[in-house]
Amino acid sequence: MVPPPMTSYLKIDAIGKSYGTTRVLHDVRLDVAPGDFTVLLGPSGCGKSTLLRIIAGLLDSDSGKLVLQGDDITALPAWDRDIGLVFQNYALFPHMTVAENVAFGLDMRNLPKAEIKARVAEALDAVRLGDLGDRKPAALSGGQQQRVAIARAIAIKPRLLLLDEPLSNLDAVLRASVRTELRDLHDRTGITTIMVTHDQAEALSIADRVVLMNEGRIVQNDTPEGIYREPASAFAASFLGSPPANLFPLPTASAAQTTGWTPPPAVAGHLGTDALLALRPEALKLTEEPTPHALPAHLKRIEFQGADRLAHVEALGHPLIVRLSDDQTLTRPDVWLTLPDTPRVFSKTTGALIAPATKG
Ligand SMILES: Nc1ncnc2c1ncn2[C@@H]1O[C@H](COP(=O)(O)OP(=O)(O)O)[C@@H](O)[C@H]1O
Ligand SMILES: [Mg+2]
Repeated sequence: MVPPPMTSYLKIDAIGKSYGTTRVLHDVRLDVAPGDFTVLLGPSGCGKSTLLRIIAGLLDSDSGKLVLQGDDITALPAWDRDIGLVFQNYALFPHMTVAENVAFGLDMRNLPKAEIKARVAEALDAVRLGDLGDRKPAALSGGQQQRVAIARAIAIKPRLLLLDEPLSNLDAVLRASVRTELRDLHDRTGITTIMVTHDQAEALSIADRVVLMNEGRIVQNDTPEGIYREPASAFAASFLGSPPANLFPLPTASAAQTTGWTPPPAVAGHLGTDALLALRPEALKLTEEPTPHALPAHLKRIEFQGADRLAHVEALGHPLIVRLSDDQTLTRPDVWLTLPDTPRVFSKTTGALIAPATKG
């Protein structure tokens, strides 16, 4: 069956951008579906903010176009795009009250006073700050200030809500609670949202779609589960997860034999090639007795993490981290490491997926 064509709410079509001779975005293409919460994820400097600023109209691209709800907005000035923006540093006006801050974008649009008042109340209620409209920003916590910034962005009833690292200035506890509120708010309002973050846990927990970027390119666009379970590259495998997937270079067949390792059939064919395995810490098992295809390993340390314990082991000269099950005790350093039967195999040189050959 041919899938129906995806409805693209926002189409990012071959956007390119350079600063001087440095290319920071290479032909970026992305379709954002209506109502989706999309997260642009990637390491610092990969071009996330540049792409978001281009979508917002704060920065011109060198090439490509942007189509929002069927309108080509590439040349439209920022203030005509009806896009709500939230940055890392709340950027509230300190001399204005919370309500005046939220009204700012509405005042600029010359809406009737009564409508402004109603929209400010609605936006403040949406972020659960209905009672604090008369305060000055300085009298609010960081989390509350960021919620004011979010209220200001949604008060204009934007066609798109763009957020650039909105939780980065908050401490860990607040970050988790504002994150939940942000997702709730999205689910109540249905505003199509694009958020930038470098924090993979944040991305996995909040997104409908995770768009992973590296060096100015989109390298994977998937659901949180899809990108976690079926990373398309060694980079994706090693960027997501805490701790991330172990990247384990395969030895030659003779080195495996010397160690006394008979790899699982799906792995054996890759010995001695340009291959590495991506092994999630929770997909590995440690035992004190050998199992078929287990790899001899040396237990160096067990790290207590509260809900989890992480075993640091070495196998064939490579460090690996194994997430231990709750009740497991290990009493000696010489252990056996059991791999999944069909781990994902990537090229050591290019990071491209070698096996399994097709998705799924
Ligand atoms: N105004 C600028 N002039 C020159 N280089 C810039 C400018 N802004 C960003 N860059 C460079 O572009 C690249 C992408 O930056 P950015 O989009 O801010 O990355 P991210 O948000 O993913 O951390 C980085 O290498 C950064 O140094
Ligand atoms: Mg940035």
